[in-house]
Amino acid sequence: MADISRRNALILGGVGIGGVAIGGTGFVVNQQSGRPQASEGSRGVALVQPTEMRSTNGMLTVALESSPQQVSIAGRTVRALSYNGGVPGPTLRLRAGDTLNVNLRNGLTDPSNLHVHGLHVSPENNGDNMFVMVDPGGSFDYQYKLPANHPPGVYWYHPHHHGYVADQVFGGLYGAIIVEDPEEIPATRERVVVISDMTFDSSGTISAATEMEKMSGREGELVLVNGQLSPALSASPGERERWRVINACTSRYLRLRLDGQQLTLLGIDSGRFESPRDVDEIVLAPGNRADLLVTALAGTSTLRALRYNRGASGGMMGARTTSSADVALATFAVAGTDTAAFTAVPEQLAPRDLRSAAVTARRELRFAMGMGGGMGGGMMSATINDRTFDATHVDTTVQFNSIEEWTLTNTSTLDHPLHLHVWPMQIIEQNGRPVDSAIWQDVVNIPARSIVRVRIAFDDFSGRTVYHCHILDHEDAGMMGIIQAI
Ligand code: C2O
Ligand code: CU
Ligand code: CU
Repeated sequence: MADISRRNALILGGVGIGGVAIGGTGFVVNQQSGRPQASEGSRGVALVQPTEMRSTNGMLTVALESSPQQVSIAGRTVRALSYNGGVPGPTLRLRAGDTLNVNLRNGLTDPSNLHVHGLHVSPENNGDNMFVMVDPGGSFDYQYKLPANHPPGVYWYHPHHHGYVADQVFGGLYGAIIVEDPEEIPATRERVVVISDMTFDSSGTISAATEMEKMSGREGELVLVNGQLSPALSASPGERERWRVINACTSRYLRLRLDGQQLTLLGIDSGRFESPRDVDEIVLAPGNRADLLVTALAGTSTLRALRYNRGASGGMMGARTTSSADVALATFAVAGTDTAAFTAVPEQLAPRDLRSAAVTARRELRFAMGMGGGMGGGMMSATINDRTFDATHVDTTVQFNSIEEWTLTNTSTLDHPLHLHVWPMQIIEQNGRPVDSAIWQDVVNIPARSIVRVRIAFDDFSGRTVYHCHILDHEDAGMMGIIQAI
């Protein structure tokens, strides 16, 4: 086939430009939905992989610069925020035991910093420290040391300076981090699939969110894959692809389907199932990732994000239902000669299981939303245990090496995806029903008006970090607490 060399380039990660789409002539606004649609010219461009940087001899040193950039998205030149000129930024490939050095330069006009979402690394000093602030024009040298037994999987990085997180992520600041498997899983090729959403105004500037939008969590009008609108992917029947899917949307949930293809889920976040699961659909809350195998079957399929109802917000004044419409994200065309079938996926280590562990402490986190009383005089309040984020107040103190059980109670009419830094959570119980296998995630959705129970092992690191709702508008409104392991 004509695109063999391009495929090889993708496998080798040799495409050296950031994930920006090219071609096309502009938007046509669909009158019914009011959503800007790409002109035909910008659809169907082959999916581009972000630049890759890979560790060697246990070390990866990268310079990341965040700055406003002109990028081409959906056939238009627009002004977005980017790391190193790309939306998404470069993919960082690491192995357990590696050291990652990042020199972050902040070329934005607002303060920023960096978070390595999901990595099990120290939250102190120049590690994954949420209390570092990098002024406009400033820089900071981060160093992350991955333990020798760090779980393989899909992680990501994004800014985390309280009050600016939603704007900066919505603007385009995110990138993938892959921790490679100790034993390789055979696949024809691997793709990083970073899904994000954005809205541009007619001048090509990112639209600001209204107070109403912030209340439910803003959703962008364009849903992009590696910064591209409706890119095209192709494969031959029988090929096995490894997709590293990241939900980098500010608030949008992704209920993903690729009908007509065979999907096998290895795990969500850093959690790996003991045996891979055949699935029809995957739901990713903001911040979640999927490590997915796609076995190609002849025919053309569409990667779609189906409607997901995450509740209603706005109270009496402007109650609105936040369920995004179905979106076509990409096409996957499978044609040509059958290739040989792959061998079975190697069995993984049995995940740790805290269901029968001795719990040393229990606590409750109550998620609530209301009108008024929000920080900064906004119209919304978004609280955990009736408090909003206070950088000087430790909300939760845990003992190093303890195992805790947390009851997550959502009293509001909207879903809230809870994210805890550094330590993953095992989901024990959902709405009164025990979970029947060991499921580990670092973003756990708490559906509207429901209760979820998780267990956490506070291993390996002490120090201060945060937990928060990963609807980033809620985080910025204060739905975040400080945790200290001592
Ligand atoms: Cu993905 Cu605290 O963040
Ligand atoms: Cu995180
Ligand atoms: Cu929330």
